[in-house]
Amino acid sequence: MFQVKTKPNEQQFSAKEGESILEAAIRQKVMVPYGCGKGECGACKVIVSQGEYEYLHGYKPKVLSQEECSEGVMLCCMAKAMSDLEVIIPENSDYPKIEIETYQSQVKKIKPLTDSVYQLILEIDSGQFDYYPGQYIEILLPDGHKRAYSLASLIKRNEENLTQEVELHIRLHENGLFSNLLKHEISVGDPLSFEGPKGGFLLNQDFSSKTVFVAGGTGIVPIKLLLDIRLDKAKNEDIYLFWGVKDQQELFHNDYFNKLYQENSKFHYIPVLTEPDLRMGNWRGATGIVSNSVVEEVPDLAGSQVYAAGPQAMIQSCQNIFPAFGLAEENFYMDIFLQPGKDSRRKKKNFFQKLFS
Ligand code: FES
Repeated sequence: MFQVKTKPNEQQFSAKEGESILEAAIRQKVMVPYGCGKGECGACKVIVSQGEYEYLHGYKPKVLSQEECSEGVMLCCMAKAMSDLEVIIPENSDYPKIEIETYQSQVKKIKPLTDSVYQLILEIDSGQFDYYPGQYIEILLPDGHKRAYSLASLIKRNEENLTQEVELHIRLHENGLFSNLLKHEISVGDPLSFEGPKGGFLLNQDFSSKTVFVAGGTGIVPIKLLLDIRLDKAKNEDIYLFWGVKDQQELFHNDYFNKLYQENSKFHYIPVLTEPDLRMGNWRGATGIVSNSVVEEVPDLAGSQVYAAGPQAMIQSCQNIFPAFGLAEENFYMDIFLQPGKDSRRKKKNFFQKLFS
């Protein structure tokens, strides 16, 4: 077992024998950018400043130039540690780093948005919490566990009394630690601590010919913020939103997106249901797997940026299907939501590549 230290954010994790650096980082919830996970996209480049490593299974890093190799650039997804390591994770110059800190807050509002998704609004006692749309926080539970949730609104600061609201939309899981607390125990006025901001699911500030947003369930939370910004800035770009959920009841932002659709000829909204509820009337929209609906509606993804947030199966399906429809790997940005109890939560894609190029 070797120790891996990251710079400049000063995190540390252990890597087991034969485990890739990326697997070790994800297992211990340490932020390392990555994309394909199999040595093909270059998204997981870091610079090794100390220590020895070796590529797994005789892998040869085809996506690294000679110069990068001689400068100590390593692909985390295909490398294993051969000694303790120190690695430099390049920062994204479009988004200057915001320090992760612990904040104390009070519950200001709890409201069901659907049977299984609750809105939770926290008010920060003091200080100022900065973050980028697409990032998330981790709620610190009394037993030491943490639960990660995407930030659901832009920064809302009350300049009069110097308080700030933080909004989350939380899917309740059966027997979930925080789900049970939220449903049965937490009330308005209770204290809650959280850490943040975290995550690298950020909007690329370069425009493309079209932008496709794909959300599964509460993956809509970060997607909605990125979409609002892109719609505001990219007046001539076609913007698609595909939102996959089980039934009509889960489309808790449906009215909002329908209104945007009416108002903006460049915006296309396609909700996709896996099990339409006939009690709520005939469903005439798309059904089935959301990634299939994407390529049925947008068969040419060349030159597009795609942002996907949701369950791992949905993300994998997008990764498997979209390249055949012209999507370049470096234009796929993802935020994987793992269920509590499974390893890690998210991370993704990354603007780090261009810092090396
Ligand atoms: S090369 Fe490592 S994630 Fe793609």
